[in-house]
Amino acid sequence: MAKLLQLLSKQCYSLQKVIFLFPTVIAFIFFYCCYLHPKYLTGTDTAVSEFLKYSQPKVLTPSRKDVLVLTPWLAPIVWEGTFDINLLNKQFRLQNATVGLTVFAVNKYILLLEPFLKTAEKHFMVGHSLNYYIFTDQPHLVPQVPLEKGRQVVVLRVPSYDRWEDISMNRMEIISNASRERFFREVDYLVCTDVDLEFSDHVGVEILSSLFATIHQDFFVVERQFFTNERKPESQAYISEEEGDFYYTGALFGGSVREVYRLTRACYQAIKIDKANHLEAEWQEESHLNKYLLYHKPTKLLSPEYMCYSRLLNDLEYQQLQAWTRILKRIRIIISSKKLKVTENNASPKV
Ligand code: GAL
Ligand code: MN
Repeated sequence: MAKLLQLLSKQCYSLQKVIFLFPTVIAFIFFYCCYLHPKYLTGTDTAVSEFLKYSQPKVLTPSRKDVLVLTPWLAPIVWEGTFDINLLNKQFRLQNATVGLTVFAVNKYILLLEPFLKTAEKHFMVGHSLNYYIFTDQPHLVPQVPLEKGRQVVVLRVPSYDRWEDISMNRMEIISNASRERFFREVDYLVCTDVDLEFSDHVGVEILSSLFATIHQDFFVVERQFFTNERKPESQAYISEEEGDFYYTGALFGGSVREVYRLTRACYQAIKIDKANHLEAEWQEESHLNKYLLYHKPTKLLSPEYMCYSRLLNDLEYQQLQAWTRILKRIRIIISSKKLKVTENNASPKV
């Protein structure tokens, strides 16, 4: 009997143990699944914890004191020192987005494609998926440039024009059609550039936004009445001398496919109306781009670091040059005089 009692009390003790252990085990499993399982230690959660490692932005310490970093409509202006590229890259990777770059290599401009592509592979969107859309009248002359993983060239045939003005203006129609036909399906962002330039330093995801444009180097400290906007009131591109925020270059702009589609379609339609009225704006599609951007403010602006004319830097006196290099800490894209010489052989060179 005593043995039986002993056994019963032992069983009771194990039962108590079970009652105590069971919820503890359940709680542990729950905690493991929620927080410790390897699945939760990789992927986005890790990325989020890594985000915390960059240095804290300080409310009383501006990133740059010498230049404007925000427009009155609250669009950032991208300068060296205003962004943390590691942080931006990590954030961009979470979007799993692809960038498309459009470039036109028509007539002699095909000669400029090789340095363009080679330097883009070195400096442009490095480490990200990229489609180069090369519009050309001579697909057989597109150079074979070795590409990094996740990057590809798509060659698209376009008609040839003798005047660079026509090549230039037609880009708006071609980009807007291609957006509808393929870009919406194939990429998330579009970057539209001229071919007569080379990448000389980092150009990455810091430029991307729903609609971005680049401040033209010649006009970034100039009063608006001296901008080379279209001044013929009959033109669709007309801007009065009292209007204008910045003068934007036509050599580099972009954004989401939706915004680039809207912009290029609007510019193309305006160019078509001008043509019907026998008008051509002073700087062709660049004038129409400036008109569009006056009424549809870009959500991000690129500083002239992103479009430098080497001729301008060559012409400066030593002291002026020092002042410039204090402001332009990095020259990321350069329109070199060497390249301009190639186009000078053209019947109607663009400078
Ligand atoms: C020039 C440039 C042209 C055009 C013009 C506007 O420096 O080469 O493409 O942008 O400025 O005034
Ligand atoms: Mn150009």
